[in-house]
Amino acid sequence: MAPLLSADPAERIIVALDGMAPDQALSFAAQVEGLRWVKVGLELFVQVGPDVVAQLRERGLRVFLDLKFHDIPATMAGACRRAAALGAELITVHACAGSKALKVAQAAALEGAQQAGLFAPTLLAVTVLTSWEEQRLQRELAITQGIAERVPALAQLSSTAGIGGCVCSPLEAAALRAQHPEPFALVTPGIRPKGSAVGDQARVMGPADAIAAGASQLVIGRPILKAADPSAAFATCCGELS
Ligand code: C5P
Repeated sequence: MAPLLSADPAERIIVALDGMAPDQALSFAAQVEGLRWVKVGLELFVQVGPDVVAQLRERGLRVFLDLKFHDIPATMAGACRRAAALGAELITVHACAGSKALKVAQAAALEGAQQAGLFAPTLLAVTVLTSWEEQRLQRELAITQGIAERVPALAQLSSTAGIGGCVCSPLEAAALRAQHPEPFALVTPGIRPKGSAVGDQARVMGPADAIAAGASQLVIGRPILKAADPSAAFATCCGELS
């Protein structure tokens, strides 16, 4: 297993390379002083493909590959095996793919990393996307379970299937941490350091509060991406964790 939980604040912060052209993403990542972790999402991956992971790793960065796999077990396993062999150290899957798919995805990720001579990645389960509201889940998908029950239930399903962590809102971190002690990873977006714009995130938390609530790592996008001085913004986030 990769050494995930370091005391170094820079290891706790993952910068989301959102809304950038491939060249821009690579040069941005290289320019942020002290940056260790980046998140590659669907938009960047669809533009540039798997090479982006190698290119970021060549620059000494650790990669969270956020493609949110959700498919039949064999396809999930194949995708996770390939993602692990690329050197992605955090990989997202949807918890509602179910325990069979989660188990084979986890096993395949271990195999993929082993065959490539790499550390095993941590798979992270996505429980309920924050774009869903309870009424719409009920109306459109006939899901009557409230989100407050559904998130811990899907986290439990994932953990039982051997998945190493979850992506969650910082507001869910304390409840999930009580249920799942470390080293279960809790990776939280929706982070806003002091003085930064909230933007379209409805429910946010500061970096130190999110870690105190039980998050193991934080995903931060615009407060660093859109800052006049991204290195200074990254240093501010690290400073809030020191
Ligand atoms: O710019 P900001 O800090 O809001 O970016 C947060 C990142 O985390 C984005 O990549 C966004 O897609 C992702 N994310 C999120 N909320 C979730 C899951 C992922 O904001 N529930």
